[in-house]
Amino acid sequence: MENKRPSWTSKYAFIITTIGSAVGLGNIWRFPYVMGQNGGAVFLAVYILIISTICFIPLLNELYIGNSTKKECIGAYESINPKLGFLGALNPLTGVLIASFYVVVGGWIINYIFRSILSYKITDYGEYFISFIQQPFYSCFLTILFLFICIFFTARGVKKGIEAANKFLMPLLAVLLIFLVINSLRLPNADIGLEFMFKPDFSKLNSHLLLSALGQAFFTLSVGMGALLTYGSYIKEDKNLVKSVYTIILSDTAFALLAGVMIFPAVFSFNMEPNSGAGLVFVTLPKIFSQIPYGHLISFAFFILLFSAAVTSAISIIECPCATLIEQLKISRVKACIILFFIISLIAIPATLSFGNLENIKIFGKTIFDTLDFLTSNIMLPMNTLILCLISGWYLKIKGYNLLNNKISGLFFDVGLKYIVPIALAGLIFMGLR
Ligand code: TRP
Repeated sequence: MENKRPSWTSKYAFIITTIGSAVGLGNIWRFPYVMGQNGGAVFLAVYILIISTICFIPLLNELYIGNSTKKECIGAYESINPKLGFLGALNPLTGVLIASFYVVVGGWIINYIFRSILSYKITDYGEYFISFIQQPFYSCFLTILFLFICIFFTARGVKKGIEAANKFLMPLLAVLLIFLVINSLRLPNADIGLEFMFKPDFSKLNSHLLLSALGQAFFTLSVGMGALLTYGSYIKEDKNLVKSVYTIILSDTAFALLAGVMIFPAVFSFNMEPNSGAGLVFVTLPKIFSQIPYGHLISFAFFILLFSAAVTSAISIIECPCATLIEQLKISRVKACIILFFIISLIAIPATLSFGNLENIKIFGKTIFDTLDFLTSNIMLPMNTLILCLISGWYLKIKGYNLLNNKISGLFFDVGLKYIVPIALAGLIFMGLR
């Protein structure tokens, strides 16, 4: 079994797939709207501070554990201590739950790609969005279609599926993003949008903003559910993991910033609200697209961009439980993918319907979709990261110096791993539960 494990064809393949995992709905959908709701530039300043200082610690830690054990989550935790397997199992479980709501949004994106091609005139975009996500059969069909596309790549294997998809979709994403940014900057009053993003008003700083930035940073880097651990386990040998980690963080931040520069100038140019929340991308932007020349083309490019980002991230989310099924149950990749297809569908369909027919089913006051999002983003992801940091820092006593080859950053890593990151994560979980 051991030597049959797949591995990346090159270091480039590892880096591009990991960036593919990181750059997703978190960057292009969530980041702009969370920034919009938290006052723009102040949020960005705090976010950059966090992502450039403490975030490399859990990221490096997760990749390192994967790379040094060369196992999927349960196996990796068990090789640290046989009693820890159940904690490892929380990771693929989190993956299944995240995948189940991620594919719902993936389905919406497919609808907007169709819309851009068919170019129907819509009078009220807000109303359209709400009535579209309520249609039971159509929205479930789209959810399953999106899931199927992701599972298809996963089933083809690490090299032929996951790598191939990322090597095609990520450059496409970069080109489309640059095209759309240039387009947006040429709109009248684009500078007001840039000011909103880059001129901070520090009087808006508060603890909620701080924790939102922290949660966003961890989510966007894909830490906390074993996706990185699994990707790290496919690296043949550890060449320079630290350098890769910085490349991943820099690229992810660049994509998020560019997404902001693509969206906010357009929003301000058309006198719209930057704080409309989750609807920013599905309501505000389509409204703008309908008012600019070649809007359909731009809209098509934008939703293909969003689709590429979402697929490469969803693949990484699915790969973690997939690797666990393959290696724990000793079954083939295709079988594991079929099993996952059914399990994820079973949760994703009620999640899709929770915007329509099942909207009255509430768990602690939240719909099924919101419960999945809340439970994973606010509780399970920070908890998994917290557990892994504590294991590495206090049980394995990993030394930053050995990883970073530098006394000062090594010491910062040690203190971060043992104290700063766990305290920050405990704060996040606490805020989530309040
Ligand atoms: N980082 C991705 C995004 O920004 C989402 C994602 C992929 C993720 N894999 C993950 C989030 C693992 C948390 C854990 O959209």
